[in-house]
Amino acid sequence: MEKVCVTGAGGYIASWVIKLLLSKGYIVHGTVRDPGNEEKNGHLKKLENAGERLHLSKADLFDYEGLCAAFAGCNGVLHIASPVPGILKLDDPQGLGGLGFLIDLPSPQADDAF
Ligand SMILES: NC(=O)c1ccc[n+]([C@@H]2O[C@H](COP(=O)([O-])OP(=O)(O)OC[C@H]3O[C@@H](n4cnc5c(N)ncnc54)[C@H](OP(=O)(O)O)[C@@H]3O)[C@@H](O)[C@H]2O)c1
Repeated sequence: MEKVCVTGAGGYIASWVIKLLLSKGYIVHGTVRDPGNEEKNGHLKKLENAGERLHLSKADLFDYEGLCAAFAGCNGVLHIASPVPGILKLDDPQGLGGLGFLIDLPSPQADDAF
């Protein structure tokens, strides 16, 4: 089975994407900042097939090692996590922190059709 990583798994858009991926038979590795936060992430466990095919791990967008670990073994990455506007100064390269590395990470190995 194809394995896909979804960043910001507990967010609005990511949750719907994960529901779709699970319904299509994918194994989903979701990243969240606080895996123990049931208020933010509890709804994911109720998705159909989540018990068998959804795995959550802790990763912040500025945590290079955490993201690399989450992406390892995945055929694709859906980067949906989005830092709250106002915290980052998008016109300031320093404000983007380590996000630039995302474009340098290895490309998915399998076909990209989801
Ligand atoms: N909602 C829409 O109708 C819509 C439409 C078009 C485009 N979009 C775009 O889609 C993206 C997601 O939107 P959304 O509505 O799904 O937002 P959301 O519900 O606020 O979800 C954002 C997610 O990003 C995570 N996040 C924020 N900062 C992070 C960080 N530093 N490290 C790791 N994760 C971080 C949050 O995690 P925590 O739970 O830990 O805070 C949250 O799960 C955004 O880029 C938005 O502009 C949304």
